[in-house]
Amino acid sequence: MPSSIAVAVIGAGAIGRTHIDTIRSTPGVKLAGIVDPTADARSLADTNGVPYFPDTNALIAAKLADAAIVATPNELHLPVSEALLTAGLPVLLEKPVAESLVSALKLVSIVAATGVPLLVGHHRRHNPIVRTARAAIEAGDIGDLVMATVTSSLAKPAPYFQAEWRRKPGVGGPLLINLVHEIDQLRYFFGEISTVQSITSNSRRGFEVEDTAAVCLTFAGGGLATLCISDAAVGPWSWDLTANENPARFPAYDVPAHYYAGSRAGLSLPDLKLWKPRGTPDWTETLTSQHLPFAPAGTYVAQLEHFVDLVRMGGMPLVSAQDATANILVLDAIARAGASGQSVAVDLSPLTLSQDFKSEDRGHS
Ligand SMILES: NC(=O)c1ccc[n+]([C@@H]2O[C@H](COP(=O)([O-])OP(=O)(O)OC[C@H]3O[C@@H](n4cnc5c(N)ncnc54)[C@H](O)[C@@H]3O)[C@@H](O)[C@H]2O)c1
Repeated sequence: MPSSIAVAVIGAGAIGRTHIDTIRSTPGVKLAGIVDPTADARSLADTNGVPYFPDTNALIAAKLADAAIVATPNELHLPVSEALLTAGLPVLLEKPVAESLVSALKLVSIVAATGVPLLVGHHRRHNPIVRTARAAIEAGDIGDLVMATVTSSLAKPAPYFQAEWRRKPGVGGPLLINLVHEIDQLRYFFGEISTVQSITSNSRRGFEVEDTAAVCLTFAGGGLATLCISDAAVGPWSWDLTANENPARFPAYDVPAHYYAGSRAGLSLPDLKLWKPRGTPDWTETLTSQHLPFAPAGTYVAQLEHFVDLVRMGGMPLVSAQDATANILVLDAIARAGASGQSVAVDLSPLTLSQDFKSEDRGHS
């Protein structure tokens, strides 16, 4: 392996540019080139002094990359990743793993057939705040989960929706684009989700795809959660606007967005504040609180470093295609629950049938 891994970025839009900046600021990695059909991307490649390619096949033919990051619209995740994996190039694929269950399962089988590493970009799992919270939860610090509340108010501006894929049902919308992160994080902490209920609405923006949703979950290991998400609601109460993972794109407010209340203690995130009773839990007694210590580190850098390790040495990705497909199964159940008004069971059997479901570090089953 070369001393510096050459990583191409495919899709130089909003998050692709974050990946480009991350590559440029991370030792041991260099930008191999930019793939994107737009003129803006061509000038971005010129500015960065790297080769430009109009499509993935041209990148593969040039043999300049050791690996690639795929940050295209959701419906292109499967075909672009398939071309790369078949050519033997490891992939860091943005979330969601694919736009549909059919595409996600096809990708799972391509990863298994090629044996080439694919890491899905559920970047929060690389965030030291999330890793510290998970360690505390695993250590029993909050006891059994009783209830969780997740808020995600993301007032996106009109130009964001000029990209047509973001308005398309089955491809865009805040469930696939944003809620998938919350689902992944809850599964990482509390294990698999067994049933879902949901109400979705498109009345704020009037697009065909939803703009707002209220979702209820039950976990196989016990505990209930509610999630409220909207891409048309104003407020600082979302992970993106509180966790400070991407300061170049988002401001960060000092309020929580996630609350986990357990049988022993409560934990809010991303402030990592643990609320404990002095003795037996009693709502009339004053709780003590402390911020759990953690070592701050760049989340996208940590994700890229893990990807580079996979490129160099192989091994199990922190978020495998199979694992990320479980998030799609939950989203599918949420969509069916919203359409039917009924509670819907999450059926993970399509995954348990495929071998090697677990990622190295994905938590409870
Ligand atoms: N992990 C995160 O923090 C995060 C944040 C935002 C978006 N995402 C995900 O990243 C992906 C991209 O989202 P975005 O908001 O950056 O979208 P975007 O629309 O801003 O950018 C997509 C880019 O892909 C390019 N593109 C289109 N077809 C292409 C092709 N065939 N080959 C190469 N490039 C092509 C477009 O020209 C555009 O520049 C989505 O899957 C989204 O869900 C992840």
